[in-house]
Amino acid sequence: MRVCDIIEKKAARGELNEEEIQFFLGALCAGSIPDYQTSALLMAIFLNGMTERELARWTLGMARSGDLVDLSAIGGVKVDKHSTGGIGDKTTVILGPIVAACGGKLAKMSGRGLGFSGGTIDKLESLPGFNTALSQDEFIRLVNTVGMAVTGQTASVALADKKLYALRDVTATVNSIPLIASSIMSKKLASGADKIVLDVKVGSGAFMKTMDDARKLAAAMVSIGEENGRETAAILTNMDRPLGRRVGNLLEMQEAYETLQGRGPADLTELCLWLSARMLSMAGLGDFEACRKKAEASIENGAAAAKFREFVTAQGGDLTVLDHPEAHYPRPLERVVTAAADGYFRIVSAEAIGRASVSLGAGRVTKEDAIDFTAGIVLEAASGDRVVKGQPLFRLCAAAEARLEAAAQDLAAAYRITEDAPEAEPLILDVVDRRTLAL
Ligand code: URA
Repeated sequence: MRVCDIIEKKAARGELNEEEIQFFLGALCAGSIPDYQTSALLMAIFLNGMTERELARWTLGMARSGDLVDLSAIGGVKVDKHSTGGIGDKTTVILGPIVAACGGKLAKMSGRGLGFSGGTIDKLESLPGFNTALSQDEFIRLVNTVGMAVTGQTASVALADKKLYALRDVTATVNSIPLIASSIMSKKLASGADKIVLDVKVGSGAFMKTMDDARKLAAAMVSIGEENGRETAAILTNMDRPLGRRVGNLLEMQEAYETLQGRGPADLTELCLWLSARMLSMAGLGDFEACRKKAEASIENGAAAAKFREFVTAQGGDLTVLDHPEAHYPRPLERVVTAAADGYFRIVSAEAIGRASVSLGAGRVTKEDAIDFTAGIVLEAASGDRVVKGQPLFRLCAAAEARLEAAAQDLAAAYRITEDAPEAEPLILDVVDRRTLAL
């Protein structure tokens, strides 16, 4: 078999068979395919797509290209959760403690942020001492004792994805439904959970800009999970505006803890309750409504916030930074952006807010960039609020004036002040699962 023939077949819209996929991914991981051939195949997939059967095979091949995590030493049904990435998305650090406080288990491998979309590992590392590189034994011990643990994705999980993603990033082939679906689901399959809940973001701050594309991506991922014996459900949620009111690593950890104490923004609280209830019900701990009530009660009675403290402490993190960041980090410079006129405040581009957060130092442009944990944006008004001239809209935090200036410029594209009240935009847009797909 020759790699060139595989590329030619895909370029002619052919369906790759099991043997061809195994040959290609095996050679890719062995380092015997030059980048130009891999890039050519990626572009052929980008342009011509994959059949459902081909995508399932390709994804399983990617999952098997590295270590398969064995979670069998953890009792009960393990449900994993994954978000396709957005701005201000700190749901993992909220729903994990809720699920664990309600008797579920969360064994989560997470990633770092790149570009305007944040990553859970960076947010957790804003807590000094927090260990995001747990050994496999420690990871399992913590899930069994605390009920949850979050660790960084090891380089050996879904090895093929590492190689493919690095090339996709530089060959304009990231934004392809089969390539995104296989990248995400190969890591989910390899991470060992029994069931998977996906949060597919839709809108200006997401990979998927339209509902149609988001539904296609969700359906592709649910089908891959189900074909591989893992019950999978996807929720489609609005990413035309950031989730919650804070963007930036430590700022988001503070907002997460406040949400667990019942003081969080309505959109973030609602999404975390929905996801937790779905995870708990898929774990067999009751029907969705009963699990939702349990999740709400865990916030009201303080159990979820207590679980958060237990989880952070167990992984070595220092909780005092949440109330006293200045004891751990230099105090950031601040700038407040105010309304230029009376009217309705409306966020029109979550992406512009994400870009502003990168300008402030809260995100990376390249993988090697350092992150400033205290940098970020506080939304002082919610999208849809009536505001008056001079009212604060955003508070920006950064280590240098030049960063504040750059971010203030980015933000100009993020919002409008309108005379008419904007229509309310729902947060939860759709659900795709084995029932809706009639699988
Ligand atoms: N997240 C991933 O892990 N892979 C993609 O391709 C896109 C988002």
